[in-house]
Amino acid sequence: MTATKGLEGIVATTSSISSIIDGYLTYRGINIDELAEQATFEEVAYLLWFGKLPTQSELDQLLADLSKEAAVPAEMISQLRTYPKDANSMAALRSAVSSLALYDAEANDMSKEANIRKAIRLQAQLPTIVAAFARIRQGLEPVAPKQGVSVAHNFLYMLTGQEPDEVAVKALDTALVLHADHELNASTFAARVTVATLSDIYSGVTSAIGALKGPLHGGANEAVMAMLEEIGSPDQVESYISGKLENKEKIMGFGHRVYKNGDPRAKHLMKMSRELGELTGNLRWYDMSIRIEELVTGQKGLKPNVDFYSASVYTSLEIPRDLFTPIFAISRLSGWTAHILEQYDNNRLIRPRAEYTGPEKAQYIPVSKR
Ligand code: ACO
Repeated sequence: MTATKGLEGIVATTSSISSIIDGYLTYRGINIDELAEQATFEEVAYLLWFGKLPTQSELDQLLADLSKEAAVPAEMISQLRTYPKDANSMAALRSAVSSLALYDAEANDMSKEANIRKAIRLQAQLPTIVAAFARIRQGLEPVAPKQGVSVAHNFLYMLTGQEPDEVAVKALDTALVLHADHELNASTFAARVTVATLSDIYSGVTSAIGALKGPLHGGANEAVMAMLEEIGSPDQVESYISGKLENKEKIMGFGHRVYKNGDPRAKHLMKMSRELGELTGNLRWYDMSIRIEELVTGQKGLKPNVDFYSASVYTSLEIPRDLFTPIFAISRLSGWTAHILEQYDNNRLIRPRAEYTGPEKAQYIPVSKR
């Protein structure tokens, strides 16, 4: 038995949800470029869950269900008030989602219908939790979800308590489309491993949130912004990046296990970063990002991934840095739950082997003789 570090190149399951073939990403066979330019996040969530684009009435029903389910139990809000104000927002989300199961009468109902309802409920409630915690830690009251608006609109509304402008809603909606699913990424794999034991959907999503939090995965978008802030201005980019590369340190937001010629999602976020920078009159983050890309691609041949330009996009939308990864979670929840439903449909316990590298034939020595 020989291990492959990081399971690189290992095909661990079949899936009909999303594909990465020859550098092209599709959701249910539809190219991500088409979806980013034309679809809404709710259409994409429907596509991931049900395997086809919704008709207008199916979409209306989903929007109504998301609105109906968006409020979280009062106990959840009370619990969020007890979290330390400086808690990591992904840690808070991980705890909150785990607790949410305690208040869902259907939590342990493993029927397909109940699991679909829970996927929609989680999709509706995640933005409410993220926004509520973001306000509570600032000493503000949570804002109740608004009925009849999109996930992107509702999130920005609940975060600020004000009606978001159309450009911001559109930008966030596109970012949600771009992050919704990505084949067998680490957090989706974590979710599938968890539910393959026939554990419940909340356990799967809690595992996934834990995996997404790390800076080698979803946490990279926050790390990118921390880097941009640390660099400070475009004229400092060159010395900072050269220093990092000379020290063999990683530049966050670059590289990918699967894409070697660039992440197809990055160009959309780059365009949004420029447009939002022009609109807000602050192109500093975009200009710095472009210069970083030139240097990292030029010197290392590495291309930006989905996290790189999303940092400047979210900053232009005035979203606090530590909500970037929770926003990723809000979007990827659609993909996680689609994969969980697919896993249940054709389940087998996921239990690989390890190549043993420890001592052989060691003997037990009683504690008195050690
Ligand atoms: N900056 C500098 N060098 C890098 C980077 C980077 N961002 N990424 C990879 N490399 C180098 C490695 O140092 C290594 O060099 P070496 O062979 O000389 O040791 C080589 O490229 C291969 O890198 P690995 O880390 O082995 O590649 P792996 O496939 O395991 O990792 C990963 C992929 C985790 C994305 C990696 O590129 C990375 O750490 N990037 C930065 C973090 C990041 O942006 N994560 C988000 C990924 S997208 C997502 O999850 C949403």
